[in-house]
Amino acid sequence: MSTVLYYDRGRVALHAILRALHVSAGDEVVVPAYTCAAMIEPLLRIGITPVYADIDRATLSPVTVAEHITPRTRAVIVQHTFGYPAPVVPLPVPVIEDCTHIGPGSAEAGTRGVAAFHSYGWGKPVFAGTGGSAVVHDPALAAEMQTRYAMYTTPPATRDLMTAALIAADAVPRRLLCGKSTVIRFANTDYGWRMCRTAQLRLPGRMAAARRDLGVRRKILTAYERGLDRIGVRHHPRPGPDAVPLRLPVRVFGKDSVLREAAECGVELGGWFRTPVHPLAGDDLATAHYAKGSCPNAEWAANHLVTLPIRFGVRPADVQRALRFFERLKARGHV
Ligand SMILES: Cc1ncc(COP(=O)(O)O)c(C=O)c1O
Repeated sequence: MSTVLYYDRGRVALHAILRALHVSAGDEVVVPAYTCAAMIEPLLRIGITPVYADIDRATLSPVTVAEHITPRTRAVIVQHTFGYPAPVVPLPVPVIEDCTHIGPGSAEAGTRGVAAFHSYGWGKPVFAGTGGSAVVHDPALAAEMQTRYAMYTTPPATRDLMTAALIAADAVPRRLLCGKSTVIRFANTDYGWRMCRTAQLRLPGRMAAARRDLGVRRKILTAYERGLDRIGVRHHPRPGPDAVPLRLPVRVFGKDSVLREAAECGVELGGWFRTPVHPLAGDDLATAHYAKGSCPNAEWAANHLVTLPIRFGVRPADVQRALRFFERLKARGHV
């Protein structure tokens, strides 16, 4: 039996797991390059040094994790990027699975490490407004986390208001939000909060909906795959017969101009991760302990991959608009 605990965000859940594992300042944790600053934030907050393992271009997951393990390594984080389950191999340190991009349908992901964490925030497979959870498999770790959970508090009502605003924004068609994703960002992470009441109330319904919507999302994926194959555009292979990814990565040339043009045409195209530790650039990458040039494949992916949304609500007309857009890109050698 696993223990599930709910926190204000996915990163708060990760922070709680690391603290309960007694990972502390000066320790190292191996993470994939080609990730999100949100995943690194809790490590930096504790004073942990993230050690970046470069990814494989085909799978988007690191293949060299073991090489990065030193006597100072206290854990490894395996990230199932865009919902493509990454391998979890036996290692001499605890493995934590980042399941923030994993929805129902990828049954094994999140079951093989000592613990996994999920996010219910914007753009995730199960959207409750805000929120995150830790699913803890190791009994000793679960007991430690449960004891510590008593210290976490219910957030103030302003958190519920913000969550309600995000839920309302989710009803706006995405093509109207293209290129405007910054308006929905907020940064007020409190590492002592549980999940707010509004998100808690919404979560069970959204989880059931996510399971129900799997068939529709599989059809959207199939439509994109067939269309892209027809026009000869290279895209990421399916993660398995049943799994439906969160986003479908497609390789492009001239990513910035492709994203600009997509926004102008009302085509929903994801640019993240735009740097190996998205969206950090310049000196901020060094602050996150990422050395430029150290993970060439992650940098390649950040410069060349865009992603198509595989979420309920994408209409056949949206798929066709995206495919016409890729047809034009193909004609100009951008894919
Ligand atoms: C790969 C990855 N890990 C962790 C997180 C953190 O999730 P949250 O925003 O709920 O803290 C995100 C959020 O975008 C993410 O993309």
